[in-house]
Amino acid sequence: MNIKKRILTGDRPTGKLHIGHYLGSLQNRVKLQDEYDQYIIIADVQALTDNYNNPEKVRKNVFEVTMDNLACGINPNKSNIFIQSMIPEIAELTVFYSNLVTVARLERNPTVKTEIQQKKELFGEDGGSVTYGFLGYPVSQTADITVFNANLVPVGEDQLPMIEQAREIVRKFNGMYGEILVEPEAMVGKISRVKGLDGNNKMGKSLNNAIYLADDEDQIRAKVRSAITDSSKIKKNDPANPEICMVGYYHEIFNKENKEKVFYECRNGLRGCVDCKNELSKAIIENLKEIREKRKYYEENPKIVEEILMEGTKKARQVAKDTMYKVKESMRINYFNS
Ligand code: TRP
Repeated sequence: MNIKKRILTGDRPTGKLHIGHYLGSLQNRVKLQDEYDQYIIIADVQALTDNYNNPEKVRKNVFEVTMDNLACGINPNKSNIFIQSMIPEIAELTVFYSNLVTVARLERNPTVKTEIQQKKELFGEDGGSVTYGFLGYPVSQTADITVFNANLVPVGEDQLPMIEQAREIVRKFNGMYGEILVEPEAMVGKISRVKGLDGNNKMGKSLNNAIYLADDEDQIRAKVRSAITDSSKIKKNDPANPEICMVGYYHEIFNKENKEKVFYECRNGLRGCVDCKNELSKAIIENLKEIREKRKYYEENPKIVEEILMEGTKKARQVAKDTMYKVKESMRINYFNS
C-alpha cells in the first residue's frame, strides 16, 4: 500500500537546463523524491504547442532534459521520469476536459496572457498569433496532473494560475460525472528566480545569459568573464558596488562562505574584476562538478537514459490507463467494457 503523497512536476523540453532550473526546482526535486511518490513529466506535447515547426529540437531536448534531471541526482528508483507523448491517455483526457472550460476563461489565464504578450513582443502581432493548441495548454496540463492522481504540484508563483485552473476543471468534472479525480494543490516552495549573466531578472535560453548544467569548465569561465559588473569601475583598484554586479550576485550563491570578504574587498578597491571572476569561476566549477561528471556519464551511455525513460513511461502508462478506465465509466463512454 502506497501511502506517500504523489507529486507531478516536469519541464518542457525546449532546451538544456541551466543553473536557474537547478537552484529553482531540480535541487528541490531531489529532496522531494525521498518523501513523495514523484512523477516527472518531460512535456514534449506541451513543448510542441509553440515549437510545432521544430520537432527535431523538441526530440533532442527530451533526452537533454532527462539527462539534466538525472545528473542533478534524480534517482529513477525513487522518481518516475516519463515522456508525455507516450501517454496517449493524457491527450484523450484533454479532449474531455476541453468541454469543461470556456475560451474566455482560458484567455483570462494570467500565465497564458503574459506568454502571448511576450510572443507578440518577440515576433510582432503576426508571429504572436495564438493557436488553439497553445491557448489550451492549461487544459492539457490539467490532464498531465490529474491522470496520475497527483496531490501536489511544486510550482513557482507564476504557475499558480495553472493550478487554479486545474482545480476548477477537476471540480467541474467531479460535480458532473462523479468523484473520480483528485484535486491537486500547488506546493509553493521557495522556488527562486536566478538572474542572468547580463543582469536580466531571469536566466533563460532565449536571452542568451545562462550557465548550463552541461557547460564544461572552459564554457563556464568564458561566461563568467562576460558577466556584467559595476560599470563605474574602470581600474583594478577602483572601489565598486558588488550589489550591482552579477559577479557579486553569483558569489553570494556559489561562494557563500567567502561572500563577506569578496564584498569588502570590492567595496574598498582591494580586488580587481579579473581575479574576482576567476575566483567565481572556480567556485561554480567546483559546485557543479558532480553534476557535470554525472551528466557526462549519461551522455556516454544513451542506452541507459533510454531505458530509464522506457521504464518510467511504462509505469506511468499503467497509472494513466487505470484513471481513464474510471473516467470513461463515469462519463458513460465505456463501451464493450474497454
Ligand atoms: N508548464 C511546465 C513548464 O513550463 C511544464 C509542465 C507540463 C508541467 N506539464 C506539467 C509542470 C504538469 C507541472 C505539472 O515547464
